[in-house]
Amino acid sequence: MQKKPRDVTPAVREDRERSLEATLRPQRLSDDEYINQDKVKGNLRILIEAAKARGEPLEHVALYGPPGVGKTSLANVIAHELGVPIRITSGPAIERAGDLAAILTNLQAGEVLFIDEVHRLPRLVEEVLYPAMDVYQLDIIIGKGPGARTLRLPLPRFTLVGATTRIGRLSSPLRDRFGATYKLDLFETEALEKVVRRSARILGVEIEPAAAHEIARRSRGTPRIANRWLKRVRDFAQVRHDGRVTLAVAREALAALEVDDKGLDAVDRMLLAAIVDKFSGGPVGLETLAAALSEDAETIEDVYEPYLMQKGYLKRTPRGRVATEHAYRHLGRTPPTGATLWNGAQPEDRAGTEP
Ligand SMILES: Nc1ncnc2c1ncn2[C@@H]1O[C@H](COP(=O)(O)OP(=O)(O)OP(=O)(O)O)[C@@H](O)[C@H]1O
Ligand SMILES: [Mg+2]
Repeated sequence: MQKKPRDVTPAVREDRERSLEATLRPQRLSDDEYINQDKVKGNLRILIEAAKARGEPLEHVALYGPPGVGKTSLANVIAHELGVPIRITSGPAIERAGDLAAILTNLQAGEVLFIDEVHRLPRLVEEVLYPAMDVYQLDIIIGKGPGARTLRLPLPRFTLVGATTRIGRLSSPLRDRFGATYKLDLFETEALEKVVRRSARILGVEIEPAAAHEIARRSRGTPRIANRWLKRVRDFAQVRHDGRVTLAVAREALAALEVDDKGLDAVDRMLLAAIVDKFSGGPVGLETLAAALSEDAETIEDVYEPYLMQKGYLKRTPRGRVATEHAYRHLGRTPPTGATLWNGAQPEDRAGTEP
C-alpha cells in the first residue's frame, strides 16, 4: 500500500521544518504566547511563583498528550519563566547509566532537564534517576561482586521535565516522583485559530480571518499541524496567487494537500477504510489493523487515533477498534443497519484493553 509519510511523525520532519518550529515556539506563559491549556498554565504559574519565592528549584513536572500539542514548547516556557537554562535530551538517547550520570553532573543549579519520550528510558538508567530526583544524589557503584561499594555524589538541584505521549507507559516509581503531572489536550478550533494568527504574524503572512479559521478547523486539533498547513498555504499563495491568504486560497491549497473538509488526511481515510472494508467495520485488534496498514501500532495509537476518536469516527472497545456510522458516512458508504454495527463501546474504554 502506497502511503505518504505522516506530517506529525518526528522521524520524517525535515530540518527546514524544524527551524520553522523553533521560530514559532512560544517563550512565555502569557495567553498570547502559549495559547490554550489555561488550567495547566494557571497551575504552573502558582508552582513557578512559589518556587521562585522560596528560591528553590521547581518540582519535577511530567507532561503528557498527543504529538504536536506543545509539550516541548511548554518545557521551554517553564525554563524561560524560571529564568534558568534548559538541557534537552530524550529517553532513547540515554542508553547507559553513565550517559545520564554525565548529564546530571554537568547541570547548573536550578537548571531544567527536559527528557522527551521519558517512558523510553532504559530500566537501569531510570534507577539512576530515582535518587537524583528524590534527593539530588548520584549513586555510583564501584567494583563488582562482594567488594562493590556505592559512592554517593551530590548533584546540583535541578528540575526534571519529562514528556510522554501516554502517561500509562511510565513505570509507577518514575510516575510517583513527579511533583506535578499535566495533561495537554488537543485544541478546539478557536484556540487553533489563535495559533494560526500568531504564527502568521511572526512569519509576516497576510491572512484573512476566515482563512485562519479554515486552516484551524482542518488541523486535527494540533498546533504543529496548524503551523505546517499555514506554511504550505502561504507557499501556495505566493506561487499561485498574490501572496495574500484568502479563504479561497486556503481551500485550494488544503485540497491540494488532500486534507478533506473535516480535516482528515489521506492516512486517516485509509485507516477508516481499512476497518470498514477489510474488517467489516470492526471490532479489529490494534495489531491486526497495524499489520493491514503496514503501520506501527504505537503510531496508530498515538498519532492517528486521538483525533479520529475525538471527532467520533472511531471507537476503542475491549474487543478492538470499531468504525462508527459517522466514519461510513464520511467515506461515502452506507452504514450497516443497527444490528450489525458494533455498538458496545464505552467512552472510558482504554487503549490496550483489547484481547
Ligand atoms: N500552546 C501553544 N501556543 C502556541 N503554539 C503552540 C502551542 N503548542 C504548540 N505550539 C506550536 O506547535 C509546535 C509543536 O509543538 P511541540 O513541539 O511543543 O509539541 P510536542 O507536544 O512536544 O510534540 P511531540 O510529542 O511530537 O514532541 C510548536 O513549535 C509551536 O509552534
Ligand atoms: Mg516534543
